[in-house]
Amino acid sequence: MSQLLRCKPIEQLIAESESGRHKLTKTLGLWSLVAMGIGAVIGSGIFTLTGTAAAGVTMKYQSVLHAPVLDLLRYGPDAVSTIGRPGAGPGVVLSFLLVAFACGFAALCYAELSSMIPVAGSTYTYAYATLGEIFAWILGWDLILEYAVSNMSVAVGFSGYFNDILDNLFGYRLPPEWSGPAFRGGDVTGAYFNLPALIIMVVLTWLLVRGVKESAQATNIMVVIKTLAILAFVFGAASAIDPGNWKPFMPNGMSGVISGAAIVFFAYIGFDSVSTAAEECENPKRDLPWGIILTLAICALLYGSVALVLTGIVPYTTLNNDEPVARALKDVGYDKLRIFVSVGALVGMWSSLLVFQYGQARIWFAMSRDRLLPGIFSRVHPEYRTPDVSTWIAGFVVGIPAGLWDIATFAELANIGTLAAFASVSAGVIVLRKRQPDMPRGFRVPLVPMVPYLSILFCLILMLGLPLQTWLTFFIWLIIGLAIYFGYSKSRSVLAAGE
Ligand code: ALA
Repeated sequence: MSQLLRCKPIEQLIAESESGRHKLTKTLGLWSLVAMGIGAVIGSGIFTLTGTAAAGVTMKYQSVLHAPVLDLLRYGPDAVSTIGRPGAGPGVVLSFLLVAFACGFAALCYAELSSMIPVAGSTYTYAYATLGEIFAWILGWDLILEYAVSNMSVAVGFSGYFNDILDNLFGYRLPPEWSGPAFRGGDVTGAYFNLPALIIMVVLTWLLVRGVKESAQATNIMVVIKTLAILAFVFGAASAIDPGNWKPFMPNGMSGVISGAAIVFFAYIGFDSVSTAAEECENPKRDLPWGIILTLAICALLYGSVALVLTGIVPYTTLNNDEPVARALKDVGYDKLRIFVSVGALVGMWSSLLVFQYGQARIWFAMSRDRLLPGIFSRVHPEYRTPDVSTWIAGFVVGIPAGLWDIATFAELANIGTLAAFASVSAGVIVLRKRQPDMPRGFRVPLVPMVPYLSILFCLILMLGLPLQTWLTFFIWLIIGLAIYFGYSKSRSVLAAGE
């Protein structure tokens, strides 16, 4: 037990962060944090999943595996096969607002944990220093799932919008066999492979290995472009709204809204990245929580407006495809606006892919440096000084599945992984307040333990809105992770050597 709970000394963490890397300067103010947050958050979700969540699946579930756990609990396994996944309809606006509210609680918990340890890093690092090796492993393994799988979904969305631009400019679409998923959940679609989704990952990985990392300036430009694309859609397409499309507003009541929320949660993934900049904040006590809350509020406003306009210009039942915003603009004949929005969407997806691939490779790298994974993962390229092996592995780990499955399958899996990580972080805040009450914290969550408990509760509700199959896949992922830990990492870890 003591082996599983061994913690990495904080002095060692600080020493590691200072050797080989420059000490980070405290330069980030509130608005830089917000720009960073929006840079990571707005990716493909708003441009793709709004449609999936609004339309739902009108087909009946072929097996209980496809049904959300919440529906299974409510209707029982027999009745559930007579219904389909309830769409939120125009009520998807409420799904977006609900999720923003729920994320707020988790965000505060992230802020406390990251401000406790004066080292830049991810939840994996914080957990290693405070909760123990086994928790660090589980969180690291879970983070890989979050980053890798959400990028699979973004890569598929990229392919969809890329095809839309070809269609708009040249009246040509790539053959569907080579630009669509071979499987939708467990069903075969007839397509072979989504080639553009793999190609984009190879190009991006190649750039990352060569050390082409976005500069703060490039991030800001991308944030401006994607925000402008969203605003252009909201104001440009508003004239095509037919209020008749908003009736009924919630065709499946709250059950549709919650099911929708469980999917569109994806669109908010990434706001936790703000908390990882604790060390670089000028005034973390004030700016960190406000940075996170403002990021969430701005995204909620943008997302809610897109959802309202999108479901207002076309009937929500037509939205179940990989590029619903572009297709809706095509349906109402707004082709100029459509190209602008599609380009903005591609820029947004590119920046989101970059942030998560960069982060993912660093988690493989950090776990390998702690000898929880084989040493090859922490090789650094002699010339480019980047973790080339882990970056390439991360590229193919994302690119190959992205060629095979559809957006919603990935988004659901990324959501369950992220929600589990949020719940663990929230629980971590409660545990550490008891275990290390005196350790200095740059930021303290108000009303502990109520806020962390509420965060856990919201995460659980959203997780219950996901299909049984997603739960099973997630458990399989965790079991594989634990098997690697007990079979390989536990005895080889750097801390084990020290003992
Ligand atoms: N929040 C990110 C997106 O929507 C993952 O693409």
